[in-house]
Amino acid sequence: MSILHDKRILLGISGSIAAYKTPTIARLLVKAGAKVQVVMTDAAKGFVTPLTLSTLTYLEVLTSFTQEDNDNAVWNNHVSLGLWADVMLVAPASANTLAKMATAAADNLLLATYLSAKCPVFFAPAMDLDMHKHPANQDNINRLVANGNILIPATSGPLASGLEGEGRMEEPEQIVAILEDYFKSKSPLSGKKIVITAGPTYEPIDPVRFIGNHSSGKMGYALANAAAQQGADVILISGPTAGNITHPNVSVVAVTTAAQMLAACMDVYTNTDALIMAAAVADFQPTEKAQQKIKKQAGIPSLSLAPTPDILSKLGEGKKNQILIGFALETQDALANAQKKLASKNLDAIVVNSLADDGAGFGHDTNKISFLQTNKEAVHYTLKSKQEVALDVMDHLKTMFDES
Ligand code: PMT
Repeated sequence: MSILHDKRILLGISGSIAAYKTPTIARLLVKAGAKVQVVMTDAAKGFVTPLTLSTLTYLEVLTSFTQEDNDNAVWNNHVSLGLWADVMLVAPASANTLAKMATAAADNLLLATYLSAKCPVFFAPAMDLDMHKHPANQDNINRLVANGNILIPATSGPLASGLEGEGRMEEPEQIVAILEDYFKSKSPLSGKKIVITAGPTYEPIDPVRFIGNHSSGKMGYALANAAAQQGADVILISGPTAGNITHPNVSVVAVTTAAQMLAACMDVYTNTDALIMAAAVADFQPTEKAQQKIKKQAGIPSLSLAPTPDILSKLGEGKKNQILIGFALETQDALANAQKKLASKNLDAIVVNSLADDGAGFGHDTNKISFLQTNKEAVHYTLKSKQEVALDVMDHLKTMFDES
């Protein structure tokens, strides 16, 4: 899937002959899965029609502050547009438009939207060579860059005037590649396949009863979401929880027992770059599952228990290039116990949380962790939301990828 998939891109088109290339930009972006909203100036309409662009983007092209429809004026809300976008691309940026952008003039919808945009703004100047190198125009370009806008520099070559030199808008393919690079830099885990386990396992006693624990899955789901948001392809292997995740980069494999969780992990382990085991796997299972509900009239049953498979140990034994991160849920001597698990299960790191800390562990929206790695100082964190904890774990994971 392209990194541009589902990205919201505002394409601002101003009046320059290079506007004839904007249907190609729109087409490439839409083909990559981006949502493209075109905002164009009146001058741009002389070079490329709104009909062409709306056909390619499947969205109405916006050209003015209001639209008249049967005497009803509808406001094209530049503020919402500016807030909607993940990036804004002004291409071509004519001398006139970039001068107005540099001086906060807002006499058309494109400019008002630019001033309202909170997202990064890329601009691709296009004009004749003498206009381009005019000191006033260069001052405007420099001012836009100083204000944090991202310049896609004009290139050299034949110009519409018949002259030759610097002033051509960068080619559409290159502009799209620049946007891809930008989103990749925002998605440091792009290209990584990460498996995350979450929730409890239930080990059945009979058709209605089981051995389980209090895991809600919140920690594992927060990790899956954080990894996906940073561009990773995530497989979330989840025990029974009320959790819900809709990020397109996450595929969920639902399991119930430890044996099923082990099988699901083994299925994907070879092609995995990192596996984070946040699930609370039940440590014991009944040696036999009664086929029918055990009747209480028969008296208190005695249960014969056996250990469940230690999934993490098995993954540790079969580890090749994967980064393997476990969790340790402790009630006492947290760091010492976690350190033992780190070594005995052949892990690269372990995240320690303790039920002795208020707000940490099972069920809470918060957690308090320490991150332990072989041959590194332990890093201790304060109580945070599980979403923030997940981001801290992702930061460690990125460093581990960089160092591996
Ligand atoms: O789900 P929440 O309500 O948000 O709670 C989060 C959590 C407390 C469940 C989570 O933060 C956590 O600590 N998960 C690991 C719980 C646990 O089983 O810890 P442990 O110390 O018993 O096990 C150590 C590691 O071995 C864990 O990574 C565990 O997944 C793994 N394990 C344990 C037993 C087993 N049979 N197989 C395993 O792989």
